[in-house]
Amino acid sequence: MKALITAGGHGTRLRPITHTQNKHLIPIANKPILSYALDYVREAGIREVGIITNQEGSEVRDMYGTGKKIGLSITYIPQEKPAGLADCVRIAESFIGGEPFVFYLGDNIIVGGIKRFISEFYTNKSNCHLVLAKVPDPERFGVPEIKANRIVRIEEKPKKPKSDYAVTGIYIYDSSIFKAVNAIKPSARGELEISDAHQYLIDKGLTITFSEITGWWKDTGKPNDLLEANRLVLDNITTQIKGKVDKQSQVFGRVVIEKGCEILNSNVRGPVIIGKGTRIINSYIGPYTSIERNCVIRDSEVEYSIISEECQILDQKIRIEASLLGKSVQIIEAKSKPYTNRLIVGDQSIVEIR
Ligand code: DAU
Repeated sequence: MKALITAGGHGTRLRPITHTQNKHLIPIANKPILSYALDYVREAGIREVGIITNQEGSEVRDMYGTGKKIGLSITYIPQEKPAGLADCVRIAESFIGGEPFVFYLGDNIIVGGIKRFISEFYTNKSNCHLVLAKVPDPERFGVPEIKANRIVRIEEKPKKPKSDYAVTGIYIYDSSIFKAVNAIKPSARGELEISDAHQYLIDKGLTITFSEITGWWKDTGKPNDLLEANRLVLDNITTQIKGKVDKQSQVFGRVVIEKGCEILNSNVRGPVIIGKGTRIINSYIGPYTSIERNCVIRDSEVEYSIISEECQILDQKIRIEASLLGKSVQIIEAKSKPYTNRLIVGDQSIVEIR
């Protein structure tokens, strides 16, 4: 079995971060989103992985290379333009060959891995095995209509969903999917929809089976989804303190403090992860925060946030919360008059000031 993982697309809902960074490399608990998919695929015993990238996909290539270091053999498959998920499958046909494969949307994060779904695919002799999750907002997803424990219809982002399930971004196929992706036509939004390919398989009477995710699952499409995914991953960390915590500091709960970190006269309340070389000085770091390497947080409070590498948060009087900072962002105090808010922010940034 091979795996095909997506890392292309527009990333429009995560601007401005995605103006300068591929969304699949945004850190969740200090690990790129895409690494969760790669780790699960390897854990399921798969070694040959195709990654769909957009035309300027060099960032992903630079990060994972041939895959050798992480025990995989990676082939990059550039997509001309983000023409839809079924297009991703279509352009990967020669890479996949005739064997079954896992199609994994690289912006999805789940708990518990994918082995179980692969066994169900084989046990049920499926042509297509889908993984479903109950969600409060099915209209954001592909939605199955289920009758007598069988999927009878699938609609993409329906206004009136026929169930409260989403089809998640983990699919297992045999080669019949290629007939489907080559037969369907672009949708109203101009994309080759994976849901239309699934509907094609249903209409042809092929065997579509499904499992339900019982733990949690997150499609990290929007900033709030990233913060939630971060919270869920941090909920499962185990304490590891390799950096320095001075006597004036207090560390509570589950906390990972990596090598070369310094926590000085500060209060860290887990679950929290703090990356290599980061310094926390006279500050409070609250639950569900991840801070990447080489940041400085001084005389400030941060909670329920994702702080990317090399950021500085200095002398902030109001706690920073529910925030997502890209790389090398500085939030600092005005040092001279006039004491105004001076902002140098990129396109489509959001700054909420009190
Ligand atoms: O997350 C589950 C949902 O994913 C499903 O419920 C939907 O049926 C499915 O269509 C998909 O919906 P999204 O609107 O969330 O898909 P999105 O455009 O965000 O793309 C998902 C992943 O695929 C992401 O890793 C980006 C990548 N992608 C997307 C497109 C359209 C590509 O690599 N190329 C593309 O052309």
